[in-house]
Amino acid sequence: MTAPLLFHVAGSEPLARNLAILTGAEFGRLERRRFPDGETYLRVLTPVAGRPALLFCTLDRPDEKILPLLFAARTVRDLKATSVGLVCPYLAYMRQDRRFRPGEAVSSRYFAEILSDRIDWLVTVDPHLHRLGSLSDIYAVPATAVHAAPFIADWIRRHVDRPLLVGPDEESAQWAATVAQDVESPHIVLRKIRHGDRDIEVSVPNLDTWRGHTPVLVDDIAATGQTLIETVGHLLTAGLKPPVCIAVHGIFASSAYRALQAAGAARVVTTNTVPHESNTIDVAPLLADAVRAMLD
Ligand code: R5P
Repeated sequence: MTAPLLFHVAGSEPLARNLAILTGAEFGRLERRRFPDGETYLRVLTPVAGRPALLFCTLDRPDEKILPLLFAARTVRDLKATSVGLVCPYLAYMRQDRRFRPGEAVSSRYFAEILSDRIDWLVTVDPHLHRLGSLSDIYAVPATAVHAAPFIADWIRRHVDRPLLVGPDEESAQWAATVAQDVESPHIVLRKIRHGDRDIEVSVPNLDTWRGHTPVLVDDIAATGQTLIETVGHLLTAGLKPPVCIAVHGIFASSAYRALQAAGAARVVTTNTVPHESNTIDVAPLLADAVRAMLD
C-alpha cells in the first residue's frame, strides 16, 4: 500500500509526528495562516494524489479549529487523496446529545453530520458516550473509539499506594469501574447534580471505610474543573488523603487547572489528547493501532 500522508491540523505536533512514525505515514506539509480579515488560508504543500490522507486534529476549543479542518479535508479530497481519515484525539460536541430544553441545538448530532460529510473514517479517544451507545449512532462513517483505561490503570499501579477509584458522577462510572477492575482496587461512584456550567453539587456517602486509601478521581473530561474541584473538597472534608485526579482529556478552561491544584489535589494527571502541562499518559500506541486497522 502507498504510505499515507499525515497532516497536522491542530493539537500536539509531537503526538502527530509520533503517530506518523508508528503508522508508517509520511508527515505531510500544510501551510496555514489567517488573512488580515481573519479568514483562513490553507495550502497542501505535499503532493497527496493517489495516497491516503490522515488529518490529525484534536478538537478542544473546536469552533476555531473546525473550519481549517473542513478546508483541509475538502482540499486533500480535491487533490485526489484516495481516502481522508480523521485522527481526533479529543472529539468535541459529544455532551449536548439531546434537547434538554425546548429549542436547544442537538449539537452532537449536527457536528457529527458536518464531519461525516467530509471524511471517510474517524479515530478518537474516549468520546463522551453516555446517553449515546456508540459513535455510529451519530457518525455516518466508520468511527473507532479507543480507550485510555488500560494506560490509566498502568499509571495508577506504578504511582499510587492503595488506590480507591472514585467516579465523581454516574457518567464517569464506566471509566472508574473499568480502571478499578484493571488495578484490582475498590471503587465508588458519587452523585452529581449540575445546576449550571460552573455550578455543581456532588453528594458523597460515608467514607470512613476508605481512610487508609488514596482516592483517585477518574473522569473523561476536565473542562471547568468544577466536577473534580467539588469532589476533592468533599473527600478532604471527609478525612481522606489528598486525591489524585486523572482526566482522559484535560481541557481546563481559563484557571481551572490552578483552581484544582489549589483545591487540594495531590496530583493532576491527563493523557496527551489535549496538549497541557498535566499530560503524563501517552495515547500514541492506542491511536496507532486503530489507525492501522482503518487503513487496512
Ligand atoms: C460530564 O458529563 C463529564 O463526564 C465530566 O464530568 C464533565 O464534562 C466535567 O466538566 P467540568 O470540568 O466542567 O466539571
